[in-house]
Amino acid sequence: MPHGKLFVTTALPYANGAFHIGHIMEYIQADVWVRFQRMRGREVHFVCADDAHGAPIMLAAEKAGKTPEAFVAEIARGRKAYLDGFHIAFDHWHSTHSPENTALSQDIFRRLKRAGLIYTRPIEQLYDPAKGMFLADRYVKGECPRCGAPEQYGDACERCGSVYAATELKNPYSTLSGARPVLRASEHYFFRLSDERCKRFLRDWIATPGRLQPQVANKAREWLEGEGERALADWDISRDPPYFGIRVPDIAEEKYLYVWLDAPIGYLAALKHYFDTGKARARGEPRSFEEFLADPQTRQIHFIGKDIIYFHTLFWPAMLHFAGLPYRVPDHVWVHGFITVSGDKMSKSRGTGIDPLRYLELGMNPEWLRYYIAAKLNANVEDLDFSPQDFVARVNSDLVGKYVNIASRAAGFLERHFDGRLYDFRPDQLGAQHSAAAAAAASAQIADDYEQREFGKVVREAMRLADLANQRYDRARPWELAKDPLRREELHRVCSEAMLAFHALTVLLAPILPATAARVARELFGMRRDFVWDDLEARPARILPYRHLLTRVQERQLETLLSGAPLPPQAAPARPAAPAQQTGDDRAAAREITIDEFARLDLRVARIVKAEAVEGADKLLKLTLDLGDHRRTVFAGIKSSYAPEALEGRLTVVVANLAPRKMRFGVSEGMVLAASGDGPGVFLLSADEGAQPGMKVR
Ligand code: 2FM
Ligand code: ZN
Repeated sequence: MPHGKLFVTTALPYANGAFHIGHIMEYIQADVWVRFQRMRGREVHFVCADDAHGAPIMLAAEKAGKTPEAFVAEIARGRKAYLDGFHIAFDHWHSTHSPENTALSQDIFRRLKRAGLIYTRPIEQLYDPAKGMFLADRYVKGECPRCGAPEQYGDACERCGSVYAATELKNPYSTLSGARPVLRASEHYFFRLSDERCKRFLRDWIATPGRLQPQVANKAREWLEGEGERALADWDISRDPPYFGIRVPDIAEEKYLYVWLDAPIGYLAALKHYFDTGKARARGEPRSFEEFLADPQTRQIHFIGKDIIYFHTLFWPAMLHFAGLPYRVPDHVWVHGFITVSGDKMSKSRGTGIDPLRYLELGMNPEWLRYYIAAKLNANVEDLDFSPQDFVARVNSDLVGKYVNIASRAAGFLERHFDGRLYDFRPDQLGAQHSAAAAAAASAQIADDYEQREFGKVVREAMRLADLANQRYDRARPWELAKDPLRREELHRVCSEAMLAFHALTVLLAPILPATAARVARELFGMRRDFVWDDLEARPARILPYRHLLTRVQERQLETLLSGAPLPPQAAPARPAAPAQQTGDDRAAAREITIDEFARLDLRVARIVKAEAVEGADKLLKLTLDLGDHRRTVFAGIKSSYAPEALEGRLTVVVANLAPRKMRFGVSEGMVLAASGDGPGVFLLSADEGAQPGMKVR
């Protein structure tokens, strides 16, 4: 395990819109990694912030009739619902529009200037005389200077593909005001990225083994070593007013730092605010922000998407290096791909078909998504596709059908027959075949996979272990052991082994399923804290009564999620403006029934007075039931789980007003109620002592 205390961030989202699934995916990736580190006992400080500055946000605020400050503050208020909703446990959320960021950005700017890496020169740019502002390329349109196509943006033609300068467009107009832009000169500040000192430093930084993923290092090196037209250019780091940003310090003239200069410094501003407000101390870090940052043992790690590699592998490390102590260069920049939904690429502004807040409002379990995303993530810069069918299959068959199933099957026997006590295995009974021992043996590899961000491997290995546990349990046929008093110890061993495997699997999956793991720790194993990695070595002695952990996802939930149709009002508590209309479809989707509908079922307590096998039927038993004032015959498919004589005399529940059904062997006059799951075994309902045949169940 690497040494040092960790400072971990995710990319700062622009404060001009709600989170989309791409944000949530990145946060889940980083959160899983951070939780794993914490379970291993490492000190981690995990922060993020809104990226609040720049022309697009200024213009969006104007359009909304708000000041930029009020606009970004409102966006910030919306963040919590998502972060809490998906169990993303940042220690602190800040903003680049903050005193800390102003101070740090101006400090870094001054230091770079002192290092001789900042200079000014006038540049000519298109200017909108009506709006009174310089126009970035995306705010100018006109005819392509090469092919004449109309309505092309100021950087490239979508028809012929040629690349040009905005000043070359024919008949240009400002998309902000419609006015014809004019050329105007202004003095800009530049960061001398092409300086040999920068290049030397970056060569080294990029080449440090293990710092970057190989494909990211290659990309950065390609930019760094470009020649001719592709040579590394100096970076234009100032903007003229009107601009929402941080002032260039020490000059009378009103100029602002370009948003991409102050944005990554926002990582440090968030960390500083977190330290200054005492939150770091609460996490056990006694030092100041500066001391922590300057410590050679500290590790600075950024999780980002593949679209912003350039900023994070060239400008950002160079800025930090030449600013000097206490600033430190990033130790790692971990890059992920994009998320697509059924193969459709996500747009940064529109997102994809999956709205994360809608997901939550529909009552879908956040851990389903965490699990699914983790299952599909690896350490490469690969895109990840969200496929609805795959999601349903993985959640239902693997997460619920394999993992949760282990506990839900074994717990009942342990509670009923052993009062929740677990079998105390001797060391020689814990051989490699034992499913809990197998889980413990796999834990070192799984830890390594977490460390390397190979979460897909973690999930695959966990599911292999879950399969193993389920298979061993099935082979032992505990439902039969339970009927034989002489095999009580065997039953105890089988169910305890399954429960210990479930314990180990829960520890192994806790970074991915933090809420479920917290419940398992407290509600099932009676602990007063969350799991840590070392709990893999613990062998709990007992369980508390099992409570249902995770439900299956229903296909209709995904259909509603992806449909964009209005949600029924009861499903939308978090979004006040949600449409309140309730359609017939939505009601069907909720699959609720009224109390009156329920009352139409005539459920009665019945005593099984006789149970007999049915000749020619493998699965059926013929039951004669006493309903108090009369008797009737019911055929029930429970032969695989019950010997007929064991049933005689016990109470059960029957649907008494079910229309009689003619079967090959006779007429069935009702139905007894029984539970079953994916695994073998059918479990007849019974009524507690004191109930009398014929009593109504309601
Ligand atoms: O691309 C983006 O969404 C930027 N807001 C990311 C900024 S990351 C960091 F530099 F602040
Ligand atoms: Zn063209």
